[in-house]
Amino acid sequence: MFIIYGVYFCLFYSLYYIIKKFFIISPELRQIPSLPLIQTILFNLKFYLAREPLLGVIRHCLIESLNKHGILKYFDTSKKEWIIAISKPELMKEVFHRTDEFQKLGKNDQKMAKAEFEFIGYDNLLYEIKDVAHLRHRKVSNPAFTHGFPPELFGNLAIELFEVMDKVSEKSPTLEIHHFTKSFSLDVIGLAAFDCNFGGIKGILTTKSELEKAYDTTIDGMSDMKYVIFPILEKIPGFRRPELFNRINYLNGVMLDIIKEHNDDDDYDGPRDLLYYMLKAEEARDDLKSRLTTEELLNNMKLFLTTGHETSSISLAAAIYFLGMNQECQEKAREEAIRIMGDEKKNIIPNSKQIKELKYINMVIKETLRIHPSAPITTVRRTQKDTRLGEYAIKEGAILILEIYASHHFEESWEESYKFKPERFANERDTANKYFPFGSGSRICIGMNFSLNEQRVFLAMLVRKYSWKVTEPNIHKDQLQVKPTLYGFAAPKNLEIDFKRRY
Ligand code: HEM
Repeated sequence: MFIIYGVYFCLFYSLYYIIKKFFIISPELRQIPSLPLIQTILFNLKFYLAREPLLGVIRHCLIESLNKHGILKYFDTSKKEWIIAISKPELMKEVFHRTDEFQKLGKNDQKMAKAEFEFIGYDNLLYEIKDVAHLRHRKVSNPAFTHGFPPELFGNLAIELFEVMDKVSEKSPTLEIHHFTKSFSLDVIGLAAFDCNFGGIKGILTTKSELEKAYDTTIDGMSDMKYVIFPILEKIPGFRRPELFNRINYLNGVMLDIIKEHNDDDDYDGPRDLLYYMLKAEEARDDLKSRLTTEELLNNMKLFLTTGHETSSISLAAAIYFLGMNQECQEKAREEAIRIMGDEKKNIIPNSKQIKELKYINMVIKETLRIHPSAPITTVRRTQKDTRLGEYAIKEGAILILEIYASHHFEESWEESYKFKPERFANERDTANKYFPFGSGSRICIGMNFSLNEQRVFLAMLVRKYSWKVTEPNIHKDQLQVKPTLYGFAAPKNLEIDFKRRY
């Protein structure tokens, strides 16, 4: 009886708190256009209750109003706060660059499921908020990413994937392509980050490796919004997830061992992976205090794994979709790859010089990331002091979200924004100030060039080997449909493609 009253009390108190917050609107907030009430209700119901994917909710509830105003406020019942969403490129750029005024959320402010906390924690490159702390992580990680990776890293795994695709298509030429690009990207980032093969590609034909199983369970566990909104569930019998936390512990242990192996061996002569370069950058630091702890290093490695794997695999699947829907673009991409890499009927990995010459394929990748950015929004920012943003006064404490997807469809900036036109990127200067698939400023994506190279090599090899079209009938006729996934990334839902081998 006591427990039931307790639950009722909590529910009523939450409701009272939400209603109170909803009606308290500061004068600064008042001047910002509001999302209409009906859309606000729909947004909250669809995202939090029906657990629809973030991009779907943005498309249904936000984009029309964002296109009208470029900035708007809406009430978020999970955060119990008014959110300012921004899609006007000039305003977005300011927020990206004024990092002292618009900071990511701090530890006490951040809603994080226990699973995410146990896996990547707060102390990592993504979540450090203060410039100095962030720079500490960035200085160790930057050299690792600027080193560049040999095209063979991506190319050999592409060949392995093609073999599996050919085997699977002996039964049917229709492949759910995101399943394949996901396995590819997982193996790429595992090898690149710490020379660890997750066996994702092999796992398509056989059973998944223990490592991949543990990783998949971890990502699913981190993505479950129920546990982000109601962390108390982790303590309630019937909702607890012991299997998940066992798997996370297992993964953490494996990765810790890898770090120790790299660290303990003075004559380490293994592969030059991200971890190798990060440890080298650590050694080179005179100031011992500024060095990262083993736990911070570990958190960053796991962060690279999750962010790098999901985003690149989505982008690759989306590029395959757009090329499947726009056959003339696919043909152009193929002509370019053949012109540069030759038309011998065998797999060829482009070298670094050839990769630079793949101008059209590069434009295809950029246009894909414009029309379907893997990350439709940025992480949330909180305003640190009363300030101005364009014509708007913004009060200390206000929460901002930069709407990457909506800004890439902002009608004032992009003509026929829903049309796939790689030629938009023929001249870099035309798009420089309104294109943010990787963010901008000091928090710009650290894996940008890594991912772009992975995509260039993979797509150039794919168009040489296959031609394809999107299977008919499909749910993606008008737009690429998505499913809920980690961090609201825009993962395609059941994207079936018919492949035909050219050799
Ligand atoms: C298509 C591929 C990718 C896309 C679209 C993408 C997108 C983004 C975006 C938009 C941000 C900025 C978030 C913000 O400002 O709140 C970001 C940050 C970040 N990304 Fe990526 N990303 C991609 C690939 C990768 C890869 C391959 C890695 C690692 C291997 C990676 C690791 C990170 C990290 C660590 C940050 C935080 C950087 C910082 O705060 O200093 N991303 N990414």
